[in-house]
Amino acid sequence: MLVELSLILSFLWFLLTAFEVMTSKRKKKSPPGPCGLPFFGSFFDIDLKNIHLDFLKWKERYGDIVSFKMNGKNFLVLNNIDIIRKAFESDEIGALMSDRPLNFIGENIFFGYKDVLLRRYDDEFMKMKKLMIRSMKLHDYNSDKFQQLMSEELSHILSKFQKTEGKPTEPMDILVPSFCNIIGMLFTGRRCQDEDRLLKVLVDFDRDGDTMIQPQVHAVYKLFPWIRHFPGYYGGLYRNVIRGRTELHNLVQDMKSKYDKTEVQNFIHELLGEHQDFAEDPDKGWLTDEHVLGMIMDLINTSVLTTKAVMAGALFLLSHFPKIQEKIREEITNIVGSRSPTTEDMASMPYTEACMMEILRYQSHLPLTAPHANLSQEVELEGYTIPKGTVIFGNLFACHHDETVYPDPWEFKPDRFLEEGKLVGADHPAVRNFIGFGVGRRRCVGQQMARIRMFLYTTCLLQKFKIEIPKDTSLPSHDPRALLSESPVILPPPMQYCFVEC
Ligand code: HEM
Ligand SMILES: *[C@@H]1O[C@H](CO)[C@@H](O)[C@H](O)[C@H]1NC(C)=O
Ligand SMILES: *[C@@H]1O[C@H](CO)[C@@H](O)[C@H](O)[C@H]1NC(C)=O
Repeated sequence: MLVELSLILSFLWFLLTAFEVMTSKRKKKSPPGPCGLPFFGSFFDIDLKNIHLDFLKWKERYGDIVSFKMNGKNFLVLNNIDIIRKAFESDEIGALMSDRPLNFIGENIFFGYKDVLLRRYDDEFMKMKKLMIRSMKLHDYNSDKFQQLMSEELSHILSKFQKTEGKPTEPMDILVPSFCNIIGMLFTGRRCQDEDRLLKVLVDFDRDGDTMIQPQVHAVYKLFPWIRHFPGYYGGLYRNVIRGRTELHNLVQDMKSKYDKTEVQNFIHELLGEHQDFAEDPDKGWLTDEHVLGMIMDLINTSVLTTKAVMAGALFLLSHFPKIQEKIREEITNIVGSRSPTTEDMASMPYTEACMMEILRYQSHLPLTAPHANLSQEVELEGYTIPKGTVIFGNLFACHHDETVYPDPWEFKPDRFLEEGKLVGADHPAVRNFIGFGVGRRRCVGQQMARIRMFLYTTCLLQKFKIEIPKDTSLPSHDPRALLSESPVILPPPMQYCFVEC
């Protein structure tokens, strides 16, 4: 009897497990994608520097959701805007894939993820992002003081371009320090002079950080974290970045010693105020100096390289299309005249704004979102099961060149953003499908700032100068698939232009 019972029980147990295995097998379907080698996966099939071009080919072959493996890790690429919205923005499901994967930089340079860009999606992240957005608004493009500093900066660089007297010039040598200066303005509430120490710290920090984030460089740190302690290239780069971080830390300490509650003049003071006033408040006590430093490093990182890519792209395309350049100049003459352009002019210059949109779409300066993940659970998406910890990218480059939304996607046509001379509205497909700043909980915090900068730098330059290529050089193709990326951004090749006064 006992034997029978235990037989029956084991049989039942067997059935149950078999059922579970079968159903879970049926449930767990992975998205299609290349198989690759054992362990290495697709490592040898893709070009880490131009990964977005491989992703474009895979979209043709495998569809809107593609999975692949590399060095023992799972990856996922989302190629369709509706799926990206579902994964990153969906209100009914809540957060689904809003973590960031674990990474070397967040771990080692940001004091264990005390920042917005690299931290996983948790309570502390949400508080930090909210604080960052609020403090930026108070001390950036909305404040009269910032606008005053910005116009001083713009006339400073215009005089530098004037001094080139129309001779071939590499514009980024003038513009990149200027981008560093305006992020410094947000931090300190003042403009740096050319020889200012802070400016040098920002320029160096940006350069070394940009190198470290390149996938082929970052992969080395990820695989061999100890390499940072050794002499040689990787150790040297790491020590440079840490030296920059120490300098920025000194800046925060210095600000702290001069902090005056009644005169909050800049972004850092705003954060420090939050920190000091509320250190006793259990709800605000989480914010440490390391968080303040982390947020500063985030903003250097995310603003300088993107602005460089956008402005390099704008100059490159405008020199390819002199007629479009001329039409923008006409609009400047009609609306702005001879005074300096301001942010208020944006609304009354639809042609210029359409060009800015088309530059952002066409080149898709950031071809992929920053990597997303869900670190705690596996996720169901479109009938597929995505294992927890999978590294997930939104493929912005593919969405922006989808010919069902953007006819002739590989042609540069600002008119696609215009209707009867007016900029199309937010519900027009061309705008609705533009997601260059990401969507959802990980959306870019600098969108407005980036758009304003792009507008001001471009219009100020075009008002004073014709941008031409030097007589004996030829322009490389402007097809964005032909531009090699300097990961994570797509940049046109370094070019010299002549800035000829009009
Ligand atoms: C044209 C210029 C820019 C473009 C195209 C751009 C685009 C993006 C994209 C695609 C993301 C990632 C979204 C995701 O992972 O889903 C992002 C994140 C971010 N951006 Fe930008 N961005 C630009 C300029 C800026 C500027 C000027 C700032 C700051 C001043 C900034 C601050 C940030 C921050 C802090 C994040 C991280 C947000 C998070 O992880 O929650 N960006 N940006
Ligand atoms: C991870 O997935 C679970 C289940 O789908 C979801 O509830 C959670 O919000 C997700 N977390 C993030 C950070 O996206
Ligand atoms: C950000 O800054 C750090 C330096 O602290 C750098 O190592 C990293 O590559 C930069 N870029 C990003 C996107 O994190």
